[in-house]
Amino acid sequence: MLAIKALNVTKVFRREKNDLIYAVNNVSFEVEEGEIFGILGPNGSGKSTLIRLISTLLIPDSGTIEVFGKDVVKEAHEVRKYIHRVSAEAGLFKKLSAYENLLFSAGIYGLSKKEAYEKINEIASLIGLDKKRLNDPIEQFSRGMQQKVSIARAFLTQPKLLLLDEPTTGLDPRAKLEVHALIRKANKQGSTILLSTHDMNEAYELCDRVMIIFNGRIVVIGDPKELVRNMREKYQDATLETVFLEYTGYDFSEVDVEEVG
Ligand SMILES: Nc1ncnc2c1ncn2[C@@H]1O[C@H](COP(=O)(O)OP(=O)(O)OP(=O)(O)O)[C@@H](O)[C@H]1O
Ligand SMILES: [Mg+2]
Repeated sequence: MLAIKALNVTKVFRREKNDLIYAVNNVSFEVEEGEIFGILGPNGSGKSTLIRLISTLLIPDSGTIEVFGKDVVKEAHEVRKYIHRVSAEAGLFKKLSAYENLLFSAGIYGLSKKEAYEKINEIASLIGLDKKRLNDPIEQFSRGMQQKVSIARAFLTQPKLLLLDEPTTGLDPRAKLEVHALIRKANKQGSTILLSTHDMNEAYELCDRVMIIFNGRIVVIGDPKELVRNMREKYQDATLETVFLEYTGYDFSEVDVEEVG
């Protein structure tokens, strides 16, 4: 079954009367159930907008998106049961403690208090969240710690589709690896993963396929390892970063490829 089926999706933001931003511009793609699917693209290319459209937070101007066969506009309520989104804006109650935030979410998902405590402690230790700090209010947490809490929240349950918008941006190298392990584990247990990232290494290691978008349009979709292999016909030392730069219009003629690849 398809986890995501997007067909000719366009989202336009109006800046001024005649100044339109095509944040997502006639985009079509499919994600298979069970995939880890990466979305790459320069700042402002439309990744977060696309993720918000899939998660029913925005409504497309044209085109359709289905999540496990349900339309994100007409059956938004159904879609919301399947998904969980993590974004850079952590979306936590700042005056409440990490525990209170996580227990609140666990309650919404129908976990008992005992189950919730066990799960929270398990995930907290998996991602290196200091247990003794879990009773402190979120506003006293560092940015990375807040992010860890919002990541922990996503793994309290087993959503059919996890939408991760730059989940590891700003995390230390160790926390990144811990989050990668959590993503892999959730995927093994059956969650389909949609992941936007600026970390090419992360995309290369984690994703079954990546989609690069540029100015709201898809420029390439493929297995990252295959994309790199193909790019090596042109640039011997190509990495996924080279693929990214090439597809997003970077001018290599000015610099030594060794430096950027
Ligand atoms: N609510 C909004 N109102 C107006 N313009 C918006 C809005 N949200 C996004 N945009 C514009 O849509 C375009 C795509 O933005 P988006 O946040 O999707 O990019 P992104 O690929 O996630 O970038 P980044 O890598 O920086 O997170 C940008 O030009 C942005 O300014
Ligand atoms: Mg974004």
